[in-house]
Amino acid sequence: MTIQWFPGHMAKARRQVTEQLKLIDVVIELVDARLPASSRNPMIDEIIAHKPRLVVLNKADMADERLTRKWIAYFEQKGFKAISINAQAGQGMKEITAACKELVKEKFDRMIAKGVNPRAVRALIVGIPNVGKSTLINKIAKKNIAKTGDRPGVTTAQQWIKVGKELELLDTPGILWPKFEDELVGLRLATSGAIKDAILNLQDVAVYALRFLSAHYPEKLKERYNLTHLSEDIVELFDDIGKRRGCLLSGGIIDYDKTAEIVLRELRAGKLGRITFEEPNEYAEIEA
Ligand code: G4P
Repeated sequence: MTIQWFPGHMAKARRQVTEQLKLIDVVIELVDARLPASSRNPMIDEIIAHKPRLVVLNKADMADERLTRKWIAYFEQKGFKAISINAQAGQGMKEITAACKELVKEKFDRMIAKGVNPRAVRALIVGIPNVGKSTLINKIAKKNIAKTGDRPGVTTAQQWIKVGKELELLDTPGILWPKFEDELVGLRLATSGAIKDAILNLQDVAVYALRFLSAHYPEKLKERYNLTHLSEDIVELFDDIGKRRGCLLSGGIIDYDKTAEIVLRELRAGKLGRITFEEPNEYAEIEA
């Protein structure tokens, strides 16, 4: 999905989420476990305001497990509940229900004490494009879609998906924009595949990716491209990988576009292994 985030679209997206918030108890903020800071909406805290929030790190199958644990600790320290899942494989679904229940426990206990019958927790998934919102909703909906548009106070077209007896999910996710004005955030989103290639220069993105991999995952990079040494000169590194992959133009010149395309395609497909592009300790810098 390509969304052009003009100011008018951002305002509309915000309005839609604000409307959806009126219907629910808990917000499930979906982020990409490989870039849990860059894949967030920069105004999320303001938009969500005081609703209880579960931060779900999706695509955990592609992320560095050590860093995923650090990110979960980071979000919990900020006062949210946080879990990691793999929506594509349907892993972590039970944990979502359990976490949502826990988040509303006090409120629901108070309702029960007043004699109100316990009901299912109502939740909304929000996130920037491409973090896996539809994948997660489809995974859950396969078994459980339920039309409940006639419930009082619920707008007519709204559908809820029942997740067991204890959770109901709005079938339309809240879509918000990323912090694309930040260059580093843009490069990380592009490297992960969340931003379409036409928007950023392919070679620029690959330069960022190769520098990052050389610094943080050198062994994975060497292994994938059968390199004994990683040149610190980025052009030489492109040359070495391009040669290994036969990316040659006439006259033996390296085809840098092709080399960039191969590196990014393989990285996004997980061929280099589990990689996370940011650590919690630099998050303060991104938020600033
Ligand atoms: P969105 O609604 O938030 O915009 O995201 P969407 O569900 O469309 O997911 C974006 C891409 O991320 C999809 O890949 C989807 O398959 C993939 N994805 C979602 N959850 C996971 C996960 O837990 N692990 C992994 N590895 N991938 C996940 P795509 O390339 O756009 O499509 P396709 O390859 O599935 O056809």
